[in-house]
Amino acid sequence: MKRLSTFLFAAAVAVAASAQGLWTNPVIDGWYADPEGFVDGGTLWIYPTRSLDYDSQTYLDAFSSEDMVRWTKHQRIISTDEVKWARRCMWAPSVVKKDGTYYLFFSANDVHQGEVGGIGVAFSKSPAGPFKDLLGKPLVQDIVNGAQPIDQHVFQDPVSGNWYMYYGGWKHCNVVRLAPNFKSLIPFEDGTLVKEITPQDYVEGPFMLYKDGKYYFMWSEGSWTKDSYRVAYGVADNPLGPFRREETILQSDPAVGLGAGHHSVVKDPRSGKYLIIYHRHPLGSSNGNDRVVCIDQLEFTPEGKIAPVKMRGSWIPDSAKERARELVAQMTLEEKCTLIHGTRGEAPYADGFHIMPIPRLGIPAIRMADGPQGVRNKTRSTYYPCGVSLAASWNREVAGKVGEGIGLDARARGVAIMLCPGVNIYRTALCGRNFEYYGEDPYLASEMALNYIKGIQGKGVMATIKHFALNNQEFDRHGVSSNADERTINEIYFPAFRKAVEKGEVACVMTSYNPVNGTHASESSWLINQNLRQWGFEGIVMSDWTSTYSAIGCFTSGLDIEMPRGYVTNYDNAKALLESGIISQEDIDLKCLHILQTVIAYGFMDNPVKDPSIPEDCDISRANALEAALEGPVLLKNSGILPLPSGKKKEIVVLGPNADIVPYGGGSGRMDPIEGRSISLYQGLSKLDKGYKVRLMDWTNPDYGLLSSAQAVIVAAGFNHDTEGEDFDRTYSLPQGQDALISKVADTNPNTVVVVYSGGEIDVTPWIDKVGALVMAWYGGQEGGTALARILSGQVSPSGRLPFTFWGSLEANPAYPNYGISKPYGQNSKKYYSKYPFIEYNEGIFLGYRGMEHFDSRPMFPFGHGLTYADIAYSDISVAFVGDGVEVCFTLTNNGKRAASEVAQVYVSAAGDSPVIAPDMELKGYEKVSVAPKQSRKVKVFLPRESFSHYSASAHAWVNDSGRYTIKVGASALDIRLSAPVELPQ
Ligand code: BGC
Repeated sequence: MKRLSTFLFAAAVAVAASAQGLWTNPVIDGWYADPEGFVDGGTLWIYPTRSLDYDSQTYLDAFSSEDMVRWTKHQRIISTDEVKWARRCMWAPSVVKKDGTYYLFFSANDVHQGEVGGIGVAFSKSPAGPFKDLLGKPLVQDIVNGAQPIDQHVFQDPVSGNWYMYYGGWKHCNVVRLAPNFKSLIPFEDGTLVKEITPQDYVEGPFMLYKDGKYYFMWSEGSWTKDSYRVAYGVADNPLGPFRREETILQSDPAVGLGAGHHSVVKDPRSGKYLIIYHRHPLGSSNGNDRVVCIDQLEFTPEGKIAPVKMRGSWIPDSAKERARELVAQMTLEEKCTLIHGTRGEAPYADGFHIMPIPRLGIPAIRMADGPQGVRNKTRSTYYPCGVSLAASWNREVAGKVGEGIGLDARARGVAIMLCPGVNIYRTALCGRNFEYYGEDPYLASEMALNYIKGIQGKGVMATIKHFALNNQEFDRHGVSSNADERTINEIYFPAFRKAVEKGEVACVMTSYNPVNGTHASESSWLINQNLRQWGFEGIVMSDWTSTYSAIGCFTSGLDIEMPRGYVTNYDNAKALLESGIISQEDIDLKCLHILQTVIAYGFMDNPVKDPSIPEDCDISRANALEAALEGPVLLKNSGILPLPSGKKKEIVVLGPNADIVPYGGGSGRMDPIEGRSISLYQGLSKLDKGYKVRLMDWTNPDYGLLSSAQAVIVAAGFNHDTEGEDFDRTYSLPQGQDALISKVADTNPNTVVVVYSGGEIDVTPWIDKVGALVMAWYGGQEGGTALARILSGQVSPSGRLPFTFWGSLEANPAYPNYGISKPYGQNSKKYYSKYPFIEYNEGIFLGYRGMEHFDSRPMFPFGHGLTYADIAYSDISVAFVGDGVEVCFTLTNNGKRAASEVAQVYVSAAGDSPVIAPDMELKGYEKVSVAPKQSRKVKVFLPRESFSHYSASAHAWVNDSGRYTIKVGASALDIRLSAPVELPQ
């Protein structure tokens, strides 16, 4: 561990690793090798060899892409028919552009067989060909210095302007100088025409890169059919070497792919980063020609060395992709169109939650069901606390356990895809679905989603993260476009999705109803191809139910499945669009590939989803539901009435609309609990073994005499499925005259505890000063009543913390003016063109607590706030650089009389000299720690390098920021107990 002052980050690259595009590897499937990359404007071209047997290699194809997701295949850009001297073995093309003409250097014929072979030149006005032979004969033909005339790579030295061609198999490498018209060779200064520059261990595949005054020469070593195939490099200060072998930079990874090599390097036209393009053998493949083209990052160390390439694999094995390809090749258009949307109404699958089976090909029916509070749709099952309750628990393990329970419940019922979690960020209290989501902070939401997803998927069931993206209100959710700038979207609204993809290997993503910056999410190639797929997402993108609006949009956006039916992606539309050339077969095949490779990777092609050994009413599920319910409730105010005093002398009265029911939010998140398993608050209190005298009172007709003499009064207030739910926004005030009830009850008995069931903040101003305690109970699931009773009675200390800012009024929330609708239909703003009405997210990155300082607004209860029955002190902060991040250590001491869990929150605050405008502080780490009375516990929180970064809209990437920061550790965003400076070097 190095102390701050002496530490320099080893990888002082400006852009965080996580920012770099993570497209799906392989980018070109099966039987292509030796890829040479070429950038033309914003388009990346790849020119590979056909990886076939020698006799069949009679032509070359090329591939182009603007986003590295959708690749266009250009067939037969040149073939042996057009090149008189070439009969077969068209190999290893290299392309350059000069004076508006594209030149393709290729090798042909098989010198192994003693045939006339060599390296030819062809030209075209288009990078897609067709290319015509320039010379009528090879440019280089003879075997000089033992080098086989193949694998040419043409390079222009940016310093001298000279053109060089490196070539050679058979363990020898030559370089020649090309005449500027590429028709002949020019001798070097010493009169030689060909120079041998073979470095140690060279086999074939030379490549030259110039960067910052240095010439990086790279080549392949080992045997191309073996695992030993790899890439190494040497550096020199001139293009002719000598090149001393430095190190291996790319090699087999037994977990990812074997025999990686024959590469090229380009600068990504979008991010400016270097990309290495190479081929590798898929794991488990025994055919030497079975090679796929992949792209990864090539990084340089600050000392100018090339770092070993981290070969990116996939949770979807190559064998699953191969099998999916084989299946798609056998499918008719009709079958493909059956796969890419929900059922057309055929029994027994006609419930809007199935993909039809295709028995001819052994493709099973795929059943889906809603979460996130439990398995919905034609079943009763365990009812778990809602999303905001999990977020309020700040407990990663608990989120994982709820996921695990849901995974078990799904397997017990044969559900392959669970439609959860929901991670849309909380902007105001009004959004009808806040209860399903994880609050306002992208880091907290990401952590919750990640663990929940791992829990579900750990049981072999696919999770679906939803709703992608910016579905932060229910008001007119099909119509109103959510308009926000790129930085805001990336810093606030994308992180939970991105972490689910990058760290959680989430299987499915559901798009949202709303347009984002003017394009409906299901039809947005920007959202799906240019963002989601760039993070490496290889699973299934499905629409939300009835959120598809046009056939062309849904066929070309990257959407895979339309739900619940094929309103637009049906056979008739597909046929018409194919015939008119508006879409291609590849557009449809790609959807099928994504669906099938995911289904195959989960084993559903071969094994039933339903596991009869798991009971539908499962013990583990029930236990996990209780554990989660105990951690969610947040004690916002306590003037000493809690925990409830024990003793049977006086009564505790429970009343209110939610006193003796188990409420839940409405819409698709609502599910049917298993009968007899749900415990209301009143039942929970009655069952306490402390022996309270508990009375349930009719809240519509309270007996104020009894209330005034009660030891304590608990008002179970809040919302339910009729007043808070999907497809409508709710009121800020409590419905049904509850404010008047609470006020009157509190006037009668100051020992009034208000327990609120809701998805977010409510208006408490009519009565907050009068009541003894306020508990946010959210919707706690079937065990919510048991858990609350244990908390109110003091058996368990409350341990939830607010996952959003409780402003105290709608107007105090800076996002409130930017909520609902800014412009009605048919109007545009200066910033956005929109055919839809829209809402502008003008608070930008300053959402929730991030906006307190910026907008100078103070909340009633800050983000992260929550009381316990203990008294926890913070001390002894230290920070140190560890690995590529910062480790924060501190001590928690319980000076109280009861055990409690503390949620220690770690915020990063740019110290005012940040190069970009940023929130005053941002949550980047936390730990929930239980501390016994008089006990001290040391806590360590690691902040990775990207905790000190911002998203740059001009670079379209996350940028690590050096400079001075303050690490703040506290019990809420307004209760900072410790702080320490840290300086991040360049
Ligand atoms: C909701 C989704 C849900 C789907 C299926 C839609 O109305 O927005 O979250 O998964 O219905 O019930």
